[in-house]
Amino acid sequence: MQNNVRPETMERITTPALAEAFIEEQIKEVRAQVGDKKVLLALSGGVDSSVVAALLIKAIGKQLVCVHVNHGLMRKNESENVIEVFRNGLDANLIYVDATDRFLNLLAGVADPEKKRKIIGGEFINVFADEARKLEGVSFLAQGTIYPDILESIKQAEGKKAVKSHHNVGGLPDDLAERFELVEPLKFLFKDEVRVVGRALGLPAEMVDRQPFPGPGLGVRCLGAITRDRLAALREADAILREEFANCGLSKTVWQYFIAIPDIKSVGVKDDSRYEGWPAIIRAVNTKDAMTATIEEIPYPVLHKVTARIVTEVPGINRVLYDLTPKPTGTIEWE
Ligand code: XMP
Repeated sequence: MQNNVRPETMERITTPALAEAFIEEQIKEVRAQVGDKKVLLALSGGVDSSVVAALLIKAIGKQLVCVHVNHGLMRKNESENVIEVFRNGLDANLIYVDATDRFLNLLAGVADPEKKRKIIGGEFINVFADEARKLEGVSFLAQGTIYPDILESIKQAEGKKAVKSHHNVGGLPDDLAERFELVEPLKFLFKDEVRVVGRALGLPAEMVDRQPFPGPGLGVRCLGAITRDRLAALREADAILREEFANCGLSKTVWQYFIAIPDIKSVGVKDDSRYEGWPAIIRAVNTKDAMTATIEEIPYPVLHKVTARIVTEVPGINRVLYDLTPKPTGTIEWE
């Protein structure tokens, strides 16, 4: 544990100059640690793994092998953006794995939220391990661990109970765990510091400032047993909400906002005919630490615009609802 306590002398990284100094120091440390060996990284496109990737590309270039697993539960254009930024923009050594069918086949008919999380987390490790075993000469595994992750695992080790099983801190199979030494350049940073470092590394604002997105992705927002048609409707409706929040500036101020779709249909009417469809539920919350949350009071004109667009543009949805529940009693995600 000794190695896992942020040094008291470490200055909080709040400015580009401090970020530059941190980057230079980490580049030296990483080069000293890995030499000419290869380093593997699961690159989800989230803030932490993206900042680690950009930092390591700067330090060791093509010695870094990034694997981006598309579990089929990404938001609209998310995997495409990862490829654009890292392969095309930063010339990263990036392996893209479209594992959509593997995940959706395993999830078919599974309605229990915890079972869904376990399946997604477990299969993520399986897919990543399959890729890792194909590679030769990789001795290191980089991870986007940040200081709150370390504090959280200390809490869990002390026996405090989690409400939901987050899958991100998952273990690799023994044969791989034994093979790799960890590289965790962000492990003493808080989230705001990671963002400052990401900006200094030149990552796009959409990536550095993006809202949190859970590891199991849209899987915990396509409620109950996931079907491909309802998942597709969720992805489109979510993209519309995000677009409208960006248009009116709410994307800059609201902490987290998304759509969830339950596995129920109601009767509606479209083009003078009966039209059974799912309801899309809008969730928009503000919080400091995600332990409690308050509701964003979305202006009515925005709600009307989002509703009108979703019900006309997204096949299968005939109603839009607005979740007004703070946390507690509602968790931020529905599952
Ligand atoms: P809840 O729903 O527990 O969510 O109020 C609190 C915050 O955690 C995110 N969340 C997750 N993040 N893996 C993650 O990385 C997960 O399995 C997971 N589940 C929830 C949620 O989006 C919110 O920001």
